Amino acid sequence: MKKFYLTTAIDYVNGQPHLGHTYEKVLADTIARYHRLKNEDVHFLTGVDEHGQKVQQKAQSEGVEPQLFCDQMAQKFVDLTHVLNLSNDDFVRTTQERHKRVVRLALQKLYDQGLIYKAEYRGFYSVKEERFLQDKDRIHGEWPTLFGEVKEIVENNYFFKLSAYQDWLIAFLNENTDFVLPQFRQKQVLEFLKEPLNDLCISRPQERLQWGIPLPFDAQFITYVWFDALLNYVSAVGYGQKEFANYWPADLHVIGKDILVPAHAVYWPIMLKALDIPLPKHLLVHGWWLTSGEKLSKSLGNAFDLFEWLQSYGTDAARYFLLREMVTGQDCEFSIENFIGRYNHELANEWGNLVSRTFNMLQRYCQSRVPVVHSDSIASENLQMHWGETHKSVFESFDNFLFSQGLEKLFKFIRELNRFVENQAPWKLSKTGNSKDQYILENTLAFLVEGIRLCAQILQVIIPESSAKILKALQVSRTTDFTWNTSLLQGALIADPLLLFPKK
Ligand code: ME8
Ligand code: MG
Repeated sequence: MKKFYLTTAIDYVNGQPHLGHTYEKVLADTIARYHRLKNEDVHFLTGVDEHGQKVQQKAQSEGVEPQLFCDQMAQKFVDLTHVLNLSNDDFVRTTQERHKRVVRLALQKLYDQGLIYKAEYRGFYSVKEERFLQDKDRIHGEWPTLFGEVKEIVENNYFFKLSAYQDWLIAFLNENTDFVLPQFRQKQVLEFLKEPLNDLCISRPQERLQWGIPLPFDAQFITYVWFDALLNYVSAVGYGQKEFANYWPADLHVIGKDILVPAHAVYWPIMLKALDIPLPKHLLVHGWWLTSGEKLSKSLGNAFDLFEWLQSYGTDAARYFLLREMVTGQDCEFSIENFIGRYNHELANEWGNLVSRTFNMLQRYCQSRVPVVHSDSIASENLQMHWGETHKSVFESFDNFLFSQGLEKLFKFIRELNRFVENQAPWKLSKTGNSKDQYILENTLAFLVEGIRLCAQILQVIIPESSAKILKALQVSRTTDFTWNTSLLQGALIADPLLLFPKK
């Protein structure tokens, strides 16, 4: 059976991993975990992009061989996958032989079909962006600073016949209106396609670039880094081999808005079409984390130590915040104050406290066993009904990648559970010595445990480490059953109280 196959952008190794990378990987991981929760067979790929001029220059400036430099940097991105508790099934590096083989195969195939030709090119080139510029890139006649140093270059190069596919691509997008998500991003792609496409220069002469994959039909030239990098999505799942059909087409490519046009929405679909490979089902495009309105990236991220942040607050806290704070697809300002606010209010006071007080009361009043429910009450029927609505509507949000909205709904239910504790006041019921009160107390705790079980099962996709602790302490074995069922855990002996999110 074909797997649910999702990918992330592969990060450039010319800088340290930063918050933007972190967010994208956590977003993709949450989607992967969510599909597994729904019993789907998932294949989740992430990795690094290692070739190109920027990496070559960076290695040179550090006085290290590019391969050694890449090995050191790639390790940091692998470390990040562990720190973030990512559930990726594979990690691709574009310097791996399995990848280079596919890049050569794809290039040769296009060349043999006459879709790649050699021509002289004269133009302005941005080293920083690693691309040729066009007049329309100028602002008031000047090159914007974002391009860094701009040089005029005349050289021979190989070109891929992108322009031949423009009409096809427009027709494809008009037929598949949800190819790019959120949908407003697809309109931007169509807007871009109103201008005629130029053919894509897919090579760099050896004199200018050595760090990359030589063209299989002319080793004097190195493959352009984007043409190389995009192919990771097929190279990592065995393009050209039988196993490929178990994965492809990809269900989802998760990427940031800066690499949608032209790379993922124009080059990539056309490359696939020309290679006669089916297109991926969707691109999910997220926005940027900003600091003071500017893109937070390797150049701006110095003020903040990512690994230190993750270590001092815990990965779950970071994952929760990133998904709760940013609306998928929109930009979002990063602020430590907002992070600490949500940590204390939502994770410590609302969720953590609900769990710890429930475990404490089970220990104190019920010898650490989940009580048997004596009879249902209006209060419990309300909880059960609200759970049914919450579950449905949280899943609806998650199906649409709206994790922030889904968490908001789930926390509404968590607040209801906290109010339920306050109203029932088990600490008062325990003092009366009256058997009816003891019944109510036991019912209350049984309902709370059931509410916690169900919330923790959903939270597994967002905050896997702490959710697993809760489910283990409750002895929950099957974690994909979402029906309110107070007899499921009755009699279970629970572990000692848990302190999941100590207040900061
Ligand atoms: O573009 N907020 O690599 P990259 C959110 N190698 N996301 C951000 C971000 C921010 N401030 N800054 C970067 C590349 N990202 C290529 C990709 S894919 C075949 C090749 C996201 O390291 C960015 O949008 O510059 C992209 O999706 C990812 O991080 C990697 O960026
Ligand atoms: Mg970038």
